Amino acid sequence: MQRRRSYKKRGYNPQDKFFHKAKEEGYRARSAYKLKEILERFRIIRAGFNVLDLGSAPGSFIQVISKIVGPSGTVVGIDLKEIEPFGASEALKNVTTYVGDIFDFDYLESILGAQRFDAITSDLMPNTTGIKFLDQDSSVDLNIAALRVVRKHLKPGGSAIFKIFNSNELRRFLSDAKRDFRDVRAMKPEAVRSTSKEIYIIGMGHKGEGRRA
Ligand SMILES: C[S@@+](CC[C@H](N)C(=O)[O-])C[C@H]1O[C@@H](n2cnc3c(N)ncnc32)[C@H](O)[C@@H]1O
Repeated sequence: MQRRRSYKKRGYNPQDKFFHKAKEEGYRARSAYKLKEILERFRIIRAGFNVLDLGSAPGSFIQVISKIVGPSGTVVGIDLKEIEPFGASEALKNVTTYVGDIFDFDYLESILGAQRFDAITSDLMPNTTGIKFLDQDSSVDLNIAALRVVRKHLKPGGSAIFKIFNSNELRRFLSDAKRDFRDVRAMKPEAVRSTSKEIYIIGMGHKGEGRRA
């Protein structure tokens, strides 16, 4: 009874089919299915790729990416929170993780140096306050920081995925992203709860520094 009332209040069931599927298939979060769906539509990550994942904890994006890139590729994950080590059984030997703040550019430079990645994924999400306009602003700020990382560390021609709250502020971010990528698409995967405002932006064909429109 208690549980049912709480679902009603939230407007969604926190233990929906994706929650159970993630448990069964060994993914650390249901977010894995959001990324899988995006990558089914936009095949922007391939075997042998070096991929940077921003906002990685607990690590389900990393699990998905690591399987696709395989042993000849690499995945670097960064989050404010510690990402629990992946057990040897998961064979995620191509993964390196760091605890760091996406706004701390000096730290990012110290760990990434001059590295350029084939693809960058971002599932960054602010700590929500419940105050709509504050949460929307924080989401845009995180994405602007992610775009700054993309400009420095994504190879020309590479692709990136961003997660953002759908709001009027989204336009500001989209117009920025369109200057960096030849093709920019938006997608709301089925695994995103229907009550959620989050959507994913996929940027393809990075123009590279000095070639932004
Ligand atoms: C939705 S979760 C990511 C889930 C992850 N993609 C997965 O599949 O397991 C969003 C993450 O963004 C991280 N985050 C928020 N602000 C950040 C910041 N300034 N720097 C780094 N990570 C941040 C949070 O700590 C949180 O773990």
